[in-house]
Amino acid sequence: MIIAVDGPTASGKGTIARAIAEHFGLPVLDTGLLYRAVGYQTQLNHGDPDNAADALAACDFPDSLLDDPALRYESTGSLASRVSVHRQVRAALLQRQVDFANQPGGAVLDGRDIGTVIAPHADAKLFVTASPEERARRRHAEMLGRGVEVTYETVLADIHARDTRDTGRADAPLRRAADAMLLDNTNLDQDAAILAAIAFVTERT
Ligand code: C5P
Repeated sequence: MIIAVDGPTASGKGTIARAIAEHFGLPVLDTGLLYRAVGYQTQLNHGDPDNAADALAACDFPDSLLDDPALRYESTGSLASRVSVHRQVRAALLQRQVDFANQPGGAVLDGRDIGTVIAPHADAKLFVTASPEERARRRHAEMLGRGVEVTYETVLADIHARDTRDTGRADAPLRRAADAMLLDNTNLDQDAAILAAIAFVTERT
């Protein structure tokens, strides 16, 4: 049983993927973390995230980096979105994700291209989204809660920039797979979105 959860930044796809994994007793992979690790390692190497060779060299990051809290920073998300446009980087991270998806017993993966590239044969595909304004509102509240001083306008601008980069890149752009369920949670609270996602997966598997 392979479950693909895709969607733009701050859409709640990670929370939904973890809830599905817990409900069905499956392992879950946040594939954004891999791109975040490459972006962060590029910076540690003093490389340029817009340079394909520098970003590719950073794909050789140590596994321990995946636990680094710095991967969660907003700035690391932006670095991730810059390194993720390079075809060579996507190719270098591909097998690890495919192997995770195809492990015996199944898996849940969340990202941008799980239903389209990593696991096009997934048993259930979800495309989780919400309006940019609502995603910015939630992300802004969450950042203020963590004590990060940032304006709503800055968060919204970052979300627009990431959406443009993620949907506009030539290789594996963010898009809904034809057979993915659209879960727009602009007007849903978290519990309702999780219930809808679990109901859909139950129906498909
Ligand atoms: O999901 P998250 O915000 O952590 O992802 C960070 C960035 O990594 C995204 O903006 C996107 O550019 C990239 N990414 C990707 N493909 C994935 C997961 C993330 O290109 N499967």
